[in-house]
Amino acid sequence: MTVVLAGRGLAKSYGGVRALAGVDVAFREGAVHALLGENGAGKSTLVKILAGAVPPDRGDLLLGGRAVRFGSTAEAVMQRVTVVSQELNLFPDLDVLANVFAHRLPRRGPVVDRAAMRSRAEPVLAELGLRVSPDTLVAALPLGERQLVEIARALVEQPRVLILDEPTSALQPAEVERLHEIIGRLRERGTAVVYVSHVLEDVLARCDEVTVLRDGAVVMSGADAAGLDLSSLVTAMLGDRAPASVPGGVAASPPLGGGGLRLVSVEVPGRLREVSLEAAPGEILGVAGLVGSGHTDLLRVVAGALTPSSGRIELPGGLRPAPGVRAAVKAGVGLISGDRRGVGITADKPVWENIVQVDAVGLTRHGAWLTATRLREFARGLAERVGVRMSSLDQAVDQLSGGNQQKVVFAKWLAARPSVLLMDDPTRGIDIGAKAEIYALMRELAEAGAVQLLASSDPKELAGICHRVIVIRKGRITAVLDGTDLTPHAVLEAVNDDDRAL
Ligand SMILES: Nc1ncnc2c1ncn2[C@@H]1O[C@H](COP(=O)(O)OP(=O)(O)OP(=O)(O)O)[C@@H](O)[C@H]1O
Ligand SMILES: [Mg+2]
Repeated sequence: MTVVLAGRGLAKSYGGVRALAGVDVAFREGAVHALLGENGAGKSTLVKILAGAVPPDRGDLLLGGRAVRFGSTAEAVMQRVTVVSQELNLFPDLDVLANVFAHRLPRRGPVVDRAAMRSRAEPVLAELGLRVSPDTLVAALPLGERQLVEIARALVEQPRVLILDEPTSALQPAEVERLHEIIGRLRERGTAVVYVSHVLEDVLARCDEVTVLRDGAVVMSGADAAGLDLSSLVTAMLGDRAPASVPGGVAASPPLGGGGLRLVSVEVPGRLREVSLEAAPGEILGVAGLVGSGHTDLLRVVAGALTPSSGRIELPGGLRPAPGVRAAVKAGVGLISGDRRGVGITADKPVWENIVQVDAVGLTRHGAWLTATRLREFARGLAERVGVRMSSLDQAVDQLSGGNQQKVVFAKWLAARPSVLLMDDPTRGIDIGAKAEIYALMRELAEAGAVQLLASSDPKELAGICHRVIVIRKGRITAVLDGTDLTPHAVLEAVNDDDRAL
């Protein structure tokens, strides 16, 4: 198969940080090429160079065998090289249609041709299964749908090279499936697809070739995916940093003896119906459900982001939270969301400030002076615990790789020592090594007596780390799985089981 796009000797440093150290890659027509590596390995940096978003310090790009230089993503789009970036690049105050054509608006004379935009966009949106009006403001869409808009933007250009940087991280399983069908059709039409992902099973099942980066260098180059398995990928990605086992077994549930989190007949109109549950101190309680089933609403009601119309919530220590997120945070409730841009971090602030943000109050409580030095030392300890890769504590969070940004969110909530920690897909975008670290931290928090609620779209994660898993359908708890009944298969089945809802 013919090489469409290639990089030769690509190098890039940011200040003192060497993100890419001379990389050679080649992407072929009609092949899906996986680009793997742990958090901070350089994947997004390579993607940004291929797509014209940043210039390399050294090295060349060859498109169809000819040297090219993309001065911007718009220039790459003109050559039909398009990208779905990891941290979405959308304009929230514009509607879906304007976002889909943000690179170049179709015009008739001086006028933007909305009709032409509509007729080009509609089949793409339908193919992606995005059932919203093209006139909807992007700000009004949930994260998963925003990700689909970004994908639509890359697809309307009928790319020769389509680059996807963790495109499925916010998608539901059915949406992921639909995207893979689209990728399959593009591959048949001869598109070169570059696919960055931490979901290694997907990579093995769906990709043709694999390149692995480690510390900015290629350690596996365009290998045939058919000859690879999970352990060979993990070894290539992590080298001797590979974890012994991922994620590992769990002890029996702590006994329910009161003093934990209790919900009694909680109702949120249109979202939750008669939800009662108890989670003991030290318990990791999984919350499973399909999109719209109410499983994330359960987290939000405990976090104070939704107010129940009736029923009661009791926090550890018998506290009844006042309404609102601030009151919940004060009462010791933390929320970690996969949507780090939305709620987790202040992107332009340094790492250390993000980490100590919630706990400034807690530190004064412990009688310490809040000197910047002290706060920084405290932040440094936590950043090291969760393994944030950064050049300094003063680096702005948006300079970190995506997975390292997510680790900062974790460190921030560890700092706050919450008595209830709510997690909504917290390992989104986190590599397989760091995931094992995060699971270990969750176990430590459990040993320290925190109540943890984990909502996840990954049945393996739920079965692997949780003591019990509750399943929510149509706003009701329809199953509780624990002990030997708690398997990934059982979770998947219960989540999709229609009969139990009634
Ligand atoms: N704008 C920037 N300023 C400073 N350093 C940066 C910037 N962008 C990336 N880096 C650094 O370059 C290195 C590679 O980052 P990159 O985003 O390419 O990693 P990645 O492989 O995509 O990781 P992830 O899986 O977490 O998304 C990291 O050490 C990161 O901190
Ligand atoms: Mg990245």
